[in-house]
Amino acid sequence: MAAIIAKAENTHKLAKQEIVALLADDAHTQEIFAAADRVRRRYVGDEVHLRGLIEFSNTCRQNCHYCGLRRDNTNVVRYRMEPDAIIDLARKAKEYGYRTVVLQSGEDPYYTVDILRHIISEIKKLGVAVTLSIGEKSRDEYAAYRQAGADRYLLRIETTDRLLYEDLDPGMSFENRLRCLRDLRSLGYELGTGCLIGLPGQTLESLADDILFFQEIDADMIGVGPFIPNPDTPLAAAAGGAFTSSLKVMAIIRLLLPDINIPATTAMETLDKNGRMIALQSGANVVMPNVTEGDYRRHYALYPGKICVGDTPAQCRSCITGKITAIGRGISTGHGFRLRKTAQENGE
Ligand code: SAM
Ligand code: SF4
Ligand code: FES
Repeated sequence: MAAIIAKAENTHKLAKQEIVALLADDAHTQEIFAAADRVRRRYVGDEVHLRGLIEFSNTCRQNCHYCGLRRDNTNVVRYRMEPDAIIDLARKAKEYGYRTVVLQSGEDPYYTVDILRHIISEIKKLGVAVTLSIGEKSRDEYAAYRQAGADRYLLRIETTDRLLYEDLDPGMSFENRLRCLRDLRSLGYELGTGCLIGLPGQTLESLADDILFFQEIDADMIGVGPFIPNPDTPLAAAAGGAFTSSLKVMAIIRLLLPDINIPATTAMETLDKNGRMIALQSGANVVMPNVTEGDYRRHYALYPGKICVGDTPAQCRSCITGKITAIGRGISTGHGFRLRKTAQENGE
């Protein structure tokens, strides 16, 4: 096991079976986390990039089995923020010191191309980077948003197991998900993707495939987190993902994609009260604090136990600053784009 960890740390390449061996092993997790922390420091440094997250609509036309926002869930209070309110929140995010605003929602057709273009171009005037996380769209739509100024896009592949994907995302096709990711890449977005960990029927082999897929598609950002069962979904009785296995997948991703941005995800902190700081010390270098206001936070109910639902944007901002400072890390003042670095350029 030590040899595989050293190989990953020094060459950033592993065969599928080696990744499976790391995932299956319980005796060397601390060594994996420590190696990922060293690689993180060597490639992307000690600074943490903050992204202000605006959850602007919880209305969704899709029906993903794992997600509380799925269209068949009648127990969720639906909301949509008006364009001016979204722009206003982005302005506040900038005042809180965020250099990136992430606009996230269900797949909500209310926001037409024209509306989204307006929102994006107004927010871009603030001088912040804009990340979109609004689901599957046509190539033309992605092109329009890019032209309006969007810099990055987050679209998790969720799982590279095609059959599992299509089973859990009824009406959606794995092929189209791939098409979206390729379009986003070729349109010049910084590309973010990722997977859920602990989906029913997911194997270690398929998680290893996910990690190799992230390398192959040359993602700029990978967000992974445990699947947390939601009682209002068909997967209410599923076991869900564990904190340590999610952390391990994340750490292996840092070892194999050393110069990318990796968030310490909210779902990690839902399972462990110190989850994001542990993630920052196991390979992550990004945190996405919530800037959504009022009841909307509670209504953006992907899974139970979501953190910060009773807090204000100001509380989250000062809370996260305190936590990051307490582990001896600094907060970046830049936009936090990926700075590509090969092992050679890194002096390895
Ligand atoms: N609708 C867009 C999409 O699906 O790409 C963006 C919003 S969606 C709520 C963002 C992410 O939430 C999904 O990619 C999924 O991985 C995650 N998610 C949904 N349900 C979850 C659950 N029960 N546990 C953990 N993460 C979940
Ligand atoms: Fe909608 Fe995204 Fe939830 Fe699927 S994961 S139901 S697309 S919000
Ligand atoms: Fe929201 Fe700590 S980040 S209260």
